[in-house]
Amino acid sequence: MSSLESKNDNQSWNNSYMLNIPMIDKQHMRFFKLFDMLMALNKEVDKDFQIQEVLEELEKYTHVHFNTEEALMRKANVPDYDLHVIQHQLFIQKIEEFKVAFSYKNSLLLEQMVAFMRKWFLIHISEIDAKYVEPVQKYLVEKAMEQE
Ligand SMILES: [Fe+2]
Repeated sequence: MSSLESKNDNQSWNNSYMLNIPMIDKQHMRFFKLFDMLMALNKEVDKDFQIQEVLEELEKYTHVHFNTEEALMRKANVPDYDLHVIQHQLFIQKIEEFKVAFSYKNSLLLEQMVAFMRKWFLIHISEIDAKYVEPVQKYLVEKAMEQE
């Protein structure tokens, strides 16, 4: 992992974000870690290289995390699956926009990324992800029972 990562210890995470689906919670914590890395950059003088590093990590992370969530939601027949996927696509689109802004050396990029990611925690994880918890937990319990 990168040098940036060792500086952080998930400052912004708190247990109210816990969905009690271990594989998802673990991935969400990783997202918070990236957010903390970004917050820490405010104090750095030469941020560009590190912003790029966070953007790349974020892109890889969203690919893995959204695939995990979407696969689980399909298996658990979660209602409003399509609406949830649209939210994920908007996030992916936003990262693409940030990458363009980075290439144009937009000086407000860091602030924009922090604001967007903060909003994402509050709204997406707490409200949108929260809706799949019950059917996904039920699906996981049933799957575990089948394997016994
Ligand atoms: Fe989600």
